[in-house]
Amino acid sequence: MNAIDWSNLSFGYMKTDYNVRSYYKDGKWSAPAETTSENIDIHMAATCLHYGQEAFEGLKAFKGKDGKIRIFRMRENALRMISSCHGIMMEELPVEVFEEAVVKAVKLNERFVPPHGSGASLYIRPLLIGMSAQVGVKPASEYLFLVFVTPVGPYFKEGFKPTPVAILRGYDRAAPLGTGTIKVGGNYAASLTAGNKAHGMGYSAVLYLDAREKKYLDECGPANFFGVKNNTYITPLSSSILPSITNKSLMQLAEDIGLKVERRPIPEEELATFEEAGQVGTAAVISPILRVDDIDENKSYIISKDGNAGPVSSKLYNKLRAIQLGDEPDTHNWVTILE
Ligand code: PLP
Ligand code: COI
Repeated sequence: MNAIDWSNLSFGYMKTDYNVRSYYKDGKWSAPAETTSENIDIHMAATCLHYGQEAFEGLKAFKGKDGKIRIFRMRENALRMISSCHGIMMEELPVEVFEEAVVKAVKLNERFVPPHGSGASLYIRPLLIGMSAQVGVKPASEYLFLVFVTPVGPYFKEGFKPTPVAILRGYDRAAPLGTGTIKVGGNYAASLTAGNKAHGMGYSAVLYLDAREKKYLDECGPANFFGVKNNTYITPLSSSILPSITNKSLMQLAEDIGLKVERRPIPEEELATFEEAGQVGTAAVISPILRVDDIDENKSYIISKDGNAGPVSSKLYNKLRAIQLGDEPDTHNWVTILE
């Protein structure tokens, strides 16, 4: 293998040594087993291809100063995968199968876990897909659960430097199927047009409004949204956003450092009052927001006056990273240390 330039990785796919798979067939899940193949042999009438019977997750592993590998909040991802299974009638994936496959995939690819201090991490992508043939709109009877990993750098090339985001009123976050709160591929495909338009105009992401009234902030294309004012961390309460594990963690950390936390509908106009704002997620970590432009209404909300991340975002970012890397005590039991 050519040496990896850990500090200059982008957020992309790099081939690693193994991925791990478990099949659901005849009423049971097979023990997660490794393969070196990057391909899946799939029936042309598989439900994942036609009816989007597919869900995925995203989580990360980190190398500590002590050389040990730490996986962040794996159980939360396993539980969210179960709620995705319920949302699109897939066979429920047991938490133990999820966790065993994730740990195995990370351990088998240990040499791809970026070193402590590089700023990079190992992104873990679990995937659950309906495999068996249907032509009528019905769930599959067979499923494949697969976990692959890839070393990644920052999701936005700017890293922790604030970037502008755009409100595009002609687009909704959730797919027409109403699957907004689960993590399914269909939702992301439906967001590609808006995302592409925003990128073309120089924005890092779309900030979606609620689909019904176009009045309240929902979330960004690949991440949840938060704003800060008056010593308060404020994040949208909405039934059409992904329940972000990073956001859940940051709400806890915000409380820990003495901020108030509010989870409530946020009208767009409130953007004018935020001292700081950011996009939050596994891939995005905290990506501070520079400015929000409502393109159709020709309105602009400047969030960062000096172009830098604010003090609260910086404090939360440093605290989250320190826990993930093992530099600070894991007081909430969020981290699984691999032996
Ligand atoms: N919202 C969307 C649409 C996402 O794709 C993600 C990324 O997973 C998030 C929010 C953040 O969720 P999490 O913090 O669990 O990664
Ligand atoms: C994540 O943060 O894990 C995501 O899934 C965001 C994006 C890469 C889809």
